[in-house]
Amino acid sequence: MSKTIIISNRLPLQISIEDNNLEVTPSVGGLATGLKSFHRDGDSIWIGWTGLTEEEIPESLAQDVKKRALEEACVSVNLTAEEIEGFYYGFSNRTIWPLFHYFMEYTEAELSFWEIYKKVNQKYANEVLKHYQEGDQIWVHDYQLLLVPNMIREKAPEAIIGFFNHIPFPSYEVFRTLPWREEVLEGVLGADLIGFHTYDYERHFLSSVSRILRLQVDFNEVTLPNRIVKVDSFPMGIDYEKFEQAALNHFKNTSEEQSDLQNRLDHHLKTTPEAKLILSIDRLDYTKGIANRIRAFEYFLDRNPEYVEKVRLVMLAVPSRSNVPQYQRLKREIDELVGRINGKFSTVNWTPIWYFYRSMPFENLIDLYTSCDVALLTPIRDGMNLVAKEFIATRTYHTGVLILSEMAGASHEMNEAILINPNNFEQISSALKQALEMPKEEQIQRNKMLQKRLKRYSVEKWANDFIKALKNTKDNRNDSQSIKISTKVSSEILDTYKNAKRRILFLDYDGTLVNYTDKPENAKPDKELIELISKLNSGNKTDVVLISGRDKHTLGYWWAKTSVELISEHGVWIRKQNSEWELSENIKNDWMEAVRPVIENFVDRTPGTFIEDKNYSLAWHYRKADPELGEMRANELSSVLKELISNHGLSVLEGNKVLEIKSSDVSKGKAAGKKLVGEDYDFIFAIGDDWTDEYLFRELPEDAYTVKVGIKNTSAQYYVEDTKNVREILKLFADHT
Ligand code: ADP
Ligand code: G6P
Repeated sequence: MSKTIIISNRLPLQISIEDNNLEVTPSVGGLATGLKSFHRDGDSIWIGWTGLTEEEIPESLAQDVKKRALEEACVSVNLTAEEIEGFYYGFSNRTIWPLFHYFMEYTEAELSFWEIYKKVNQKYANEVLKHYQEGDQIWVHDYQLLLVPNMIREKAPEAIIGFFNHIPFPSYEVFRTLPWREEVLEGVLGADLIGFHTYDYERHFLSSVSRILRLQVDFNEVTLPNRIVKVDSFPMGIDYEKFEQAALNHFKNTSEEQSDLQNRLDHHLKTTPEAKLILSIDRLDYTKGIANRIRAFEYFLDRNPEYVEKVRLVMLAVPSRSNVPQYQRLKREIDELVGRINGKFSTVNWTPIWYFYRSMPFENLIDLYTSCDVALLTPIRDGMNLVAKEFIATRTYHTGVLILSEMAGASHEMNEAILINPNNFEQISSALKQALEMPKEEQIQRNKMLQKRLKRYSVEKWANDFIKALKNTKDNRNDSQSIKISTKVSSEILDTYKNAKRRILFLDYDGTLVNYTDKPENAKPDKELIELISKLNSGNKTDVVLISGRDKHTLGYWWAKTSVELISEHGVWIRKQNSEWELSENIKNDWMEAVRPVIENFVDRTPGTFIEDKNYSLAWHYRKADPELGEMRANELSSVLKELISNHGLSVLEGNKVLEIKSSDVSKGKAAGKKLVGEDYDFIFAIGDDWTDEYLFRELPEDAYTVKVGIKNTSAQYYVEDTKNVREILKLFADHT
């Protein structure tokens, strides 16, 4: 039976060694806490790091560590102290983490970190490959493993691979500053499905892919030569029932069964019944806005002295990534701030901030969630923020108020919370006042709505939706009905070719025989290509026709020394073997003067675009324009032109990053059709890569071999991935002229 292989940097369990014994604790952090229940309930293995370096594990305990992980269907990846330094504390948490959270001033571009990151990602990929069996789904998680999807793909091309990014994906303007931006994007694009928490992160990712890698992006799909990658947003939920049930059980506890923490909280509530508790929980991370939060609390007390002795901020910060200098500095800053504010406001009976710097068992988290009146969560940036959702799930009496930063992914689904800008003290201060004074009915009304949504979109549903969408990508790998030209298929075609008495090959030029270049004039045929085409054309059984949208001058110049037949401008001109150019029919071009200024206007408004003036057509190229702007202007120009040229016998062709206006009587299909009239070819072969070639594919007789370069939207019977494959097939033909 197929299984799911989950792979993340950290396993859901952390192992430590105390007096030669293994101690196991649950991992903290949204990824581990969220995915745990999906892993527990499903058929999956989880590959990751235990938290111990290789050096910390004595040989006598190495097997025990592995065994202990296996008991929870986890496979441990061994990492040395040096690897952890460069990969985890280094590239993951000193480069990607700050950059993706828009802390550019903290981002370090250190080559040695990157080298180790690559090495460790390969280590994870190798571990996955050891466990992978055909039919399994592989689900890679988070920013520590951005290169893993493609590393797996290289060794297992057919594998179904999903990737989920648990942190924000920054805007293109920020992402582009990363020195290794291409490699990172290519790494992630090894996946079939890429998931983000919000649509904004998805949008930013797609924009980087189209701008940096210049790949074709249509809505939420990226087209690679041989695959389509789907990108979507799946906001992660929580194990709602677990938190709700824990809260219900919590209220059933007798005072003897209660934790010390709960007793302390109860004591506080009894002694100052009118006082309120404000809760703050996060990993100690600069993205969480903890320092700002404390300052905003100070501001609130300054502004609202009537709340002195009436409110208390209960602040829980979990130690995190403490080898990274920014985290050490933050720790000192928070310690000082708490000290200063407690010093400033404390009275004999009251300290404004209770500060805990430690991880807490689940039961204590529930104590805090259920006992506090307000949760104040003010991250400056946060991929999701599960604490906000957990707080709401535990409010079984439906009271309590959530104040949440609009910079947290969770804010998109939690509109009924009081949403604030974490950089605006005044707003936080008035949100606190509003929360503390909010009537019970309003609290209940808001929370019921939040709870209904969180219950429905639980972590289980999140994971199932992702896996379902991932499995579906298998069916979408090729969205047309065309068949890939494998070795077997190409040898079948070759057999027919060899047995044929008269053959004709229609070959498109750009994107088929040569790759696209930034400027059309740079795509000159190379020596190998000229020799190949000449050889194909040399026997008397085969007619080769280069059929292109190019102007006759360029095409004629490039192929001057060969006798190959040329059709230019989609069929306007023909240069038969060893002949001069002839106009194929009487085509008008007097319309050009009226249309050119319209296109010129678009050139002026769209940097990087230009007009190619052909004899009987005008082409507007936008390959070098900003991809999004280019597409937008292409749509606009296309509709402007269609209106302008209606009833004039002209049409607008939408090619690969080019719009071309020409007579409707001209198309590659019509030109090829004319060529076949009265001929008795028994092998017809046509190959091309864009929309203009579709006219050719459609016009040819049914027994013709039609081949698309690329996989998207074609009526061709067959497809190949790239120009390299095109040449391979042509070489086979050339060997049997
Ligand atoms: P992040 O993923 O950035 O750490 P989230 O809010 O998404 O932030 O997830 C944090 C997770 O860690 C939550 O599931 C929360 O219950 C857990 N957690 C937070 N603080 C503590 C703590 N002091 N002890 C134990 N678990 C904690
Ligand atoms: C965030 C990240 C996780 C990470 C967690 C805890 O939630 O998205 O990938 O595991 O923080 O951080 P840590 O560095 O301790 O694994």
